[in-house]
Amino acid sequence: MQTIELGQTGQHVSRMALGAMQMGGATDERDSVHILDRYLEIGGSFVDTADCYEWWRHPGTLGGQSEELLGRWMRAGDRREQVFLATKGSAGPVFSPQLWDDEGQPDWDLARRTFEGAGADTLRHALDGSLRRLGTDHVDLYYVHVDDRNTPLEETLEALDGFVRAGKVRYLGWSNVRTWRLERIRQLCERHGWTLPVAVQQQHSYLRPGASTGSASIAGYEQLDYLREHRDQTLVAYSPILKGVYDSAAKRDGHWMMGSYSGPDADARLAVLAEVASEAGVTPNQLVPAWLMDQESPRVLPLIGPRTRAQFEDALPALDVKLSDEQLRRLDAAGV
Ligand SMILES: NC(=O)c1ccc[n+]([C@@H]2O[C@H](COP(=O)([O-])OP(=O)(O)OC[C@H]3O[C@@H](n4cnc5c(N)ncnc54)[C@H](OP(=O)(O)O)[C@@H]3O)[C@@H](O)[C@H]2O)c1
Repeated sequence: MQTIELGQTGQHVSRMALGAMQMGGATDERDSVHILDRYLEIGGSFVDTADCYEWWRHPGTLGGQSEELLGRWMRAGDRREQVFLATKGSAGPVFSPQLWDDEGQPDWDLARRTFEGAGADTLRHALDGSLRRLGTDHVDLYYVHVDDRNTPLEETLEALDGFVRAGKVRYLGWSNVRTWRLERIRQLCERHGWTLPVAVQQQHSYLRPGASTGSASIAGYEQLDYLREHRDQTLVAYSPILKGVYDSAAKRDGHWMMGSYSGPDADARLAVLAEVASEAGVTPNQLVPAWLMDQESPRVLPLIGPRTRAQFEDALPALDVKLSDEQLRRLDAAGV
């Protein structure tokens, strides 16, 4: 698999990262291990998880199942050195029995109101927990999972810098974050000599969010422009195929993911996407990561999240799609 430079660090990482969010939850251990092995086999190495994955599928817990599974997988095959390992802290909810109803369904509103946040002690505790579950003494990339506006940024940044100095973390990243916060982080790092984040993990795909969306999690026009000007931070695109909605109008219909995108712009882009996918002999779900990987400015690194072995295999043709300049122009220009 091709690689791209992470920010301007000199560190090269796989062109397409593999998300382990569902591993140990919706994806059982056997299938997870199979997918992870296959990813290494095709030359991939960039694996993404978080300390809270997936508390919402395991009533009574605060997550950790994905990290534990990765820890077992790496230990069993002595694979730690083959993996560029990313994890995240700050988005676990504070435990409460009310997080799940009687049917075991999560209460996301309560969870969001009680995120543990990015205070220094919280992050120290979170990182040590992640290292223990992953069975390693360091992670390659550590993200603040959800930007925390209730904690002074100085406190968070100084703690993160301490992780890097202690050798527990090699690079830093931020996720679910607004552009003005990225700029404030940059200024504080420059002023205090703290380690600057080199990865920004946001929801990003081919469809564009509607103007009224207002989500801090989706990379919009302003953020893309910012990252175009700041090549020392790489955009890692999570939910790159928006939960697989591109191939099926039936799946799109009423899917919660479409809430930020539905409208004439999405309709126009979906039509052109289908046209170019058919010319290229791939599905729209395959074309979208290929288009993301073709973006030069800002550069984009798709982070896929296959739930099944078949979905993982289905993602691979994206790595070989060759789009002509004319097709790229048509895809870029589509929309209203
Ligand atoms: N920073 C954050 O806040 C954040 C948030 C979300 C995710 N992430 C990271 O990003 C990774 C990927 O995110 P994601 O899981 O949302 O990505 P995604 O690939 O857009 O969505 C995964 C879902 O797409 C569907 N899918 C995958 N491959 C498919 C295929 N070939 N054909 C049809 N459907 C397919 C499946 O849906 P069905 O289950 O319906 O079949 C699967 O569960 C996660 O593992 C995690 O590491 C980070």
